[in-house]
Amino acid sequence: MQRDPELTRSIHPLLAERFSPQQFDPSAAVDDHTVGLLLEAARWAPSAGNSQPWGFFTGRPGEPEHERVVRHLAPSSARWATNAGLLVVTLAHRYVGDTELLYSEFADYDLGQAVAHMTVQAQAMGLAAHQFRAFDLEGLTEELRPAPGWAIVSMIALGKAAGEPSETRDRRSIADLLSAPWSLSV
Ligand SMILES: Cc1cc2nc3c(=O)[nH]c(=O)nc-3n(C[C@H](O)[C@H](O)[C@H](O)COP(=O)(O)O)c2cc1C
Repeated sequence: MQRDPELTRSIHPLLAERFSPQQFDPSAAVDDHTVGLLLEAARWAPSAGNSQPWGFFTGRPGEPEHERVVRHLAPSSARWATNAGLLVVTLAHRYVGDTELLYSEFADYDLGQAVAHMTVQAQAMGLAAHQFRAFDLEGLTEELRPAPGWAIVSMIALGKAAGEPSETRDRRSIADLLSAPWSLSV
């Protein structure tokens, strides 16, 4: 694991200071304009062949859409995600309609980039994002009934972070990123 505070401080503050909060401020509402900017940031992500294979479902506390999503959270994520000013369900367009024909080989990859854009835009606006998979995928799919070819992939809780990043956050070293994928027995 790498601990090189000097190098970390040298990357852009939007990246260096980002973290996934374990708590959100329940009094910090996310307004319509902010929701629009987050989706706009996602919209401008690159994608294979400009296929833009991403889709979102949003809900804020007090909205019926929020109710529909919150009831499918796992206990582990409900602890903090319920307090976030905005919940986003992310979807990838994997197949063409009901067929087994791929809409895009890179659907999940591209969705991830769109979410990264959204995350950085949130950080630039003083908000934080916590992506998660701790929800009942089957139940939420039944609830939202995505169109044929679309699949729910993840959720994002966005809002004002309450609390500091965990002390135990760590990363693999750059050397490991470059060496781990390759077999040494060639
Ligand atoms: C696809 C995806 C799924 C995740 N699922 C969960 C989850 O179910 N519960 C959770 O607490 N965090 C989840 N996370 C957050 C990661 O645990 C977190 O990003 C990672 O530990 C690095 O911490 P950091 O974001 O603060 O740098 C998920 C992140 C991603 C990208």
